[in-house]
Amino acid sequence: MATLIAMTLGIGAFPARAAHASAADADASPALVPAPARLQLARGSFTVSAGTPLLAEGEAARAEALRFAALLTRTGTLALKLSSTPASAGAITFALDDALPGQSPERYRLRIDAEGVRLVAADARGLHYGAVTLWQLLTADTSANGAARSLPALVIDDAPRFGWRGLMLDSARHFQGIDEIKSLLDAMALHKLNTFHWHLTDDQGWRIEIRKYPKLTEVGGCRLPAGDGAVDPASGQPRRYCGHYTQEQIREVVAYAAQRHITVVPEIDVPGHATAAIAAYPALGVVDTPLAPTTEWGVFPNLFNVEEATFRFLEDVLAEVVELFPGRYVHVGGDEAIKDQWQASARVQQRMRELGAADEMAMQSQLIRRLEKFLSARDRRLIGWDEILEGGLAPQATVMSWRGIDGGLQAARMGHDVVMAPSSEVYLDYLQTDSPNEPPGRPGAMTLRRVYEFEPVPAALEDAYRPHILGVQANVWTEHMRSYARVEHAVFPRIAAVAETGWSPAARRDYGDFLARLPAQLRRYRALGIGYARTPFEVRFDVRHDAAAGRATVALGNALDYPDIRYTLDGRDPGPQSPAYRQPLALTPPALLKAAVFADGQALAPPSALALEPASTWTRSDETLQSCSNRLVLRLEDDGPAEGERAVYDVDIFDPCWRWKAAPLQGVTRVRVRAGRIPYYFRLAHDEPHRRFAPARSPHGEMDLHTGACDGPRLTSVPLPAAPGADGFVVLDAEFPAQAADADLCIRFTGDTRPRMWVLDQVTLRAPQGR
Ligand code: ACM
Repeated sequence: MATLIAMTLGIGAFPARAAHASAADADASPALVPAPARLQLARGSFTVSAGTPLLAEGEAARAEALRFAALLTRTGTLALKLSSTPASAGAITFALDDALPGQSPERYRLRIDAEGVRLVAADARGLHYGAVTLWQLLTADTSANGAARSLPALVIDDAPRFGWRGLMLDSARHFQGIDEIKSLLDAMALHKLNTFHWHLTDDQGWRIEIRKYPKLTEVGGCRLPAGDGAVDPASGQPRRYCGHYTQEQIREVVAYAAQRHITVVPEIDVPGHATAAIAAYPALGVVDTPLAPTTEWGVFPNLFNVEEATFRFLEDVLAEVVELFPGRYVHVGGDEAIKDQWQASARVQQRMRELGAADEMAMQSQLIRRLEKFLSARDRRLIGWDEILEGGLAPQATVMSWRGIDGGLQAARMGHDVVMAPSSEVYLDYLQTDSPNEPPGRPGAMTLRRVYEFEPVPAALEDAYRPHILGVQANVWTEHMRSYARVEHAVFPRIAAVAETGWSPAARRDYGDFLARLPAQLRRYRALGIGYARTPFEVRFDVRHDAAAGRATVALGNALDYPDIRYTLDGRDPGPQSPAYRQPLALTPPALLKAAVFADGQALAPPSALALEPASTWTRSDETLQSCSNRLVLRLEDDGPAEGERAVYDVDIFDPCWRWKAAPLQGVTRVRVRAGRIPYYFRLAHDEPHRRFAPARSPHGEMDLHTGACDGPRLTSVPLPAAPGADGFVVLDAEFPAQAADADLCIRFTGDTRPRMWVLDQVTLRAPQGR
């Protein structure tokens, strides 16, 4: 047996690898994500080859060993066979042992020495996590696929920091197929996540079959996409967007998750986010106006009413839900239920008096308490968004803190359990870099670093209450994710950061070390076909134009500061031997610069290209401009075409105005703007008054240009057409006297943003000499 080196790779040892470890020392400290609680390297090694027997002691161990072998096959690592010959030397053995030291039911010990590999756990969960660790050890270098590989001798004693390591997926705004859900569950399991929170109902769709109320999915399961997306151009007929999960499919997902030691927590959102349900059964609503599942995003006023029949309806729904989902928790939402309808309704006010609810918050609290009682009687625990604190928390409720951490802090101090999921730290619908290549979503970068550095246990929380923090969860809201590819872009690699927060001891977490382990994780993603976001790994170009000299200075960087950037100027893709970037490049247009980030000799993303033309100095696209007032900037896509690429625009939906800071205006007499038009598909409840637009002064409004302050005197104005051209765009030319100096340039479209708004795509400055 190899001797253990008396060295524990704790926080002291890992940072030595820093962000820029080479392949050579990857052997010394394996690139495991999440980092294990305790890893001791030893002297010696063990070689795993296709001939290495895989042994399992007992039925549970056999199931885990089989899944492990299947995973190795899936990533093309090695084909291992489960052997029935007992206890041979030189084998990989999976075994259960409930005497394994430790408290956590998820713990495991992985020992590798010259004799073989032995994975022991207290139950099947630990075997699964240990198997993931072993798979990661075997896939640190995917270039050796198919070949025997040497594993360092070591002992890993591992267990998670938190019992709730979650990911929420919104299947209401956009719908994902069963295979996509399974694919996400597979990936969650490989990050040692154990809770899948499934957001199944919302204003835009009801996605879970409820046998007693078939219209929930028949009516509530379909919406119309916004704008032109609502009509089939060939037939002129409505093009409905539909989807729901049958109970059979849900059982299949729950079982699939359970095999991977993931519990599914269903969410039925009450009393708000209820438009789709009320559209299906109008008697559930407060107002008489007929509703349809909404085509828009945002916060809607439609609440369930507070009649006894509605409470019964919700209980009926939960009765079917608890039959489908055997996990302990049922999520009942509670978020963003603005109370305008309850306040305005004489009937709701009368019911509140009957029920003794002093105000609308107390009414919501009564509803939640009632549902909690119903769930408790079925041995389930209620969990809700932090708004369930308002009006008084139900006695046993668990709080999911999303509006920051304060709700979680308050609930923990009241002795309630808490899951931390603050929108400011772990919401994955926010874009992850400032790259123009980020898909639609919410700008304001939720960087990998920001996600990684979130600490779920608030520093202010007293020791006695700390055990109430059950864990951490990342949330994926899908308003802007029309496809599963977009979900994957949002989730990976940021989920690796969340996984480490949920699993690794606080003292083991180190962002620089995490970055050093990440390239190995990306190789695993590639081997698994996971479409992780390339944007954090692309090269970004900071271009400084010197208009007078006709030159540009280009600084190369990377959102994650990986230092090994290679570039070419001859049109070829850069490789690991291409020139290394050291300092800003002085380029004279025309020039084609290509660059990529390398780690361990491999590019982390396809090369980025910068084509510098003489006109580049004078042109900007919307992603490189600023908002004039920064009220609510979104990255939105066009509503067509139905299939294929759509134009994407950065637009402040509360003030459609773009600012080019220090635009090179000296001598300029003309501006050409290419603009598109998109539907305005937002309802923002009490934020609506912030929506601001300059009134149109002509039938279709105009494009106004200003220099200096955006609200200052107008430089010029151009009338807008009734509609864009067949390609979806319009080109607008504005003329004005030659400008004496460079200045900020603001471009604003007048007219109501509803139902459609003009959006800037590109702006070009032009001088009389035709530049
Ligand atoms: C939420 O983001 N509305 C929970």
